[in-house]
Amino acid sequence: MICLGIEGTAHSIGVGIIQDVNKTCTVRSNLIKTYKPEKGGIHPREAANHHANYIADLIYESIKKAHVDFSDIDLVSFSQGPGLGPCLRTAATAARALALSLERPIMGVNHCVAHLEIGRGTIHRCKDPVLLYVSGANTQVIAFAEGKYRVFGETLDIGIGNCLDKFGRFMDMEFPSGPKIEKLAEKGKKYLELPYSIKGMDIAFSGLLTAAEHYVEKKERLEDICYSIQETTFAALTEVTERAIAHTEKNEVLLGGGVASNKRLRDMVKTMAEERGASFFVPKKDVCIDNGAMIAWLGYLMYDSGSRMDIEDTSIDQRFRTDMVDVTWRE
Ligand code: ATP
Ligand code: FE2
Repeated sequence: MICLGIEGTAHSIGVGIIQDVNKTCTVRSNLIKTYKPEKGGIHPREAANHHANYIADLIYESIKKAHVDFSDIDLVSFSQGPGLGPCLRTAATAARALALSLERPIMGVNHCVAHLEIGRGTIHRCKDPVLLYVSGANTQVIAFAEGKYRVFGETLDIGIGNCLDKFGRFMDMEFPSGPKIEKLAEKGKKYLELPYSIKGMDIAFSGLLTAAEHYVEKKERLEDICYSIQETTFAALTEVTERAIAHTEKNEVLLGGGVASNKRLRDMVKTMAEERGASFFVPKKDVCIDNGAMIAWLGYLMYDSGSRMDIEDTSIDQRFRTDMVDVTWRE
C-alpha cells in the first residue's frame, strides 16, 4: 500500500510518501518546509499562511520524488492533532481536498503516536520502546501499556525545545537555537546550579529558564550557562525516561523529535539504557523531526488494521491526547 501523509502541527509543513513492504516502512519521499519567524516566537496564523503557500508544491514534488503517480496513492493521511489550530486546519484542508479529488480514503492521525510508530516502522530491532519525545512544543515519555499509548511523564509548562529557543531568543540567537546552544555547551567548563524540577514523573522548565537568564545578567560565561542548561534539563529527561522503563519493564528506548539531534542528550540516554541492559534507538533525522512520512506510516497502520474515517470525522483536535488513540494495530 502507498500512503501520502501531510504533517502540519506547528512550524513545519511536510509531505511524505511511504510504502509498506512486508509491514515495514519504506520512505519513498519526505519533504519539509519550515516557517521561521523573522522575530519573536511562532505566530500561528502566519505559520498557517506559510503552510498554505507551500503545500501544493510539496505535494507535487513529493509525488515526483517518490517516482509514483497520483493514481498510485492508496490513502491520504494527515496530522489531526495536537498542535496549533490554524496550522492543523491548513494541513487537514489539503488532505481532504486531495483525498476527495483522488477518490481515496482519508485518515487523521495523532502526531505524538506517529513519532513513536515511525521508529518501530523504520528501525528493524525497535519493537516495543519507551519513547522520549523531545521537540519544540512537546516533551513526553510515551509507551504502550494495556492497549493504549500512555504518557508516563511530560512537561508541566513548556517543551524542552521551546525552553532552549526561548533562552536563545533572550540572547538574540537565530531560531531555532537548540543547535547553537549545543555548540556553546561543548565549550562549557563550569556547572552553574539551576533548578531541577521533577514532580512525580513530570518536569518543569520555566524556573530553570528564568534562573539561566539571571546568570546572563550576572555576566557568567555563556558557554557555562548553555552547558548547565543542557546538563540539568537532559538529566531530568533521562531520569523520567529511566523510571518509565523500570515501571513498564521494557527494554528499548527510542528518541524522537527535533531535540533528539542533540549529541549530549543522546549520550546521556544511551548510557542510561546500556546500564539497564536496554537497547537505544534514534530514527534517521528526516523521520525524527516533524515530517509527513511518519504521518503517512501511522495512517497506513490504522487503515490496514481496519480503522476508517469519513470526511465528517476529520475535524482537527488541538488537544488530541496520546492516550485517546484507539490502538487497533498492535496486540
Ligand atoms: P512539535 O510540533 O512536535 O513540537 P517542532 O515544530 O518543535 O515540533 P521539531 O523539528 O520536532 O519541531 O523540533 C524543533 C526543536 O528542536 C527546536 O526547538 C530546536 O531548537 C530543537 N533542536 C534542533 N536541533 C537541536 C540540537 N542539536 N540540540 C537541541 N535542540 C535542538
Ligand atoms: Fe513533533
